[in-house]
Amino acid sequence: MKAEDRQELIGLLRKTIYELTGNYYPDERMKILEYKIERLLKSLNVKVSTPDGIVSFFLKDPENKKLLIDLMTVPETRFFREREQLEVLFDRFLRGKHQLDMASVGCSMGQEPYTLAMMMAKRGIVGKVVGMDINEEVLKKARSGIYDANELKDIPEEYRNYVSLEGKFLKIKPDVKRMVEFRQVNLIERQSFQPLQCRFNVVLCRNVLIYFDSKSKRVALSNLRSILKRDGLLVISSTEILNREYYDLFEPIKEGKFFFYKKREMKDDKSPCG
Ligand SMILES: C[S@@+](CC[C@H](N)C(=O)[O-])C[C@H]1O[C@@H](n2cnc3c(N)ncnc32)[C@H](O)[C@@H]1O
Repeated sequence: MKAEDRQELIGLLRKTIYELTGNYYPDERMKILEYKIERLLKSLNVKVSTPDGIVSFFLKDPENKKLLIDLMTVPETRFFREREQLEVLFDRFLRGKHQLDMASVGCSMGQEPYTLAMMMAKRGIVGKVVGMDINEEVLKKARSGIYDANELKDIPEEYRNYVSLEGKFLKIKPDVKRMVEFRQVNLIERQSFQPLQCRFNVVLCRNVLIYFDSKSKRVALSNLRSILKRDGLLVISSTEILNREYYDLFEPIKEGKFFFYKKREMKDDKSPCG
């Protein structure tokens, strides 16, 4: 393919990925996108060679579309990531709760929702954690509840009774596994969230919205808001911040060095939570 066609193709795929997922590749990450696309095209037997033809190849077939969506995923995650923030959440905001529904949106391979379930179990809290992601492949891994034994190092001593080591594998034990379920959602599609309206006390969406631009971030935040109960809390990574632009949706609450975001009541709420 000629250099200018290649540039056109990368530009078209950047736009397509944005429209499908809300993730925007800024100029400084375009080399990563280019590399990923090149590898994908090599592994597939794509007969067309024009930029438009290749985009149609991805959009017309649901399997190929899935490949494109999976391509933009940054699946990096680990058990007890930003543990201190989670301890503050449980010990200051959720203290005394006996029943909770929590969500981890953009849960990748499931370490985050299982972490939440272990923290609930340790505190005698019953309830469910729903892990959600756009990427089917990471959800498959999440549903298995089986990880590499090396990941034990991320789990603090006092939580290790919730997992077992079997040869090279670390397995989530059934009591915790039963607390967690997984669903495929797309943060920018309202219908993905329709069945979950007003369901959760807490929604985590950490290290996901950093890849969104302000327009898709607003759509995603409004969807996340819709699945929270009245006064529910949104938790983003402590390295992220919600600026004033979104204060109509969430009210920031500072607790120690962390910000948490409380669902704001809105006058013309189309689906208020009772
Ligand atoms: C870096 S991981 C974050 C994992 C975990 N929350 C953590 O902090 O460790 C980002 C995840 O967001 C998911 N994601 C990206 N865009 C999404 C969208 N539009 N809808 C749902 N999930 C999305 C990706 O598939 C990926 O698994």
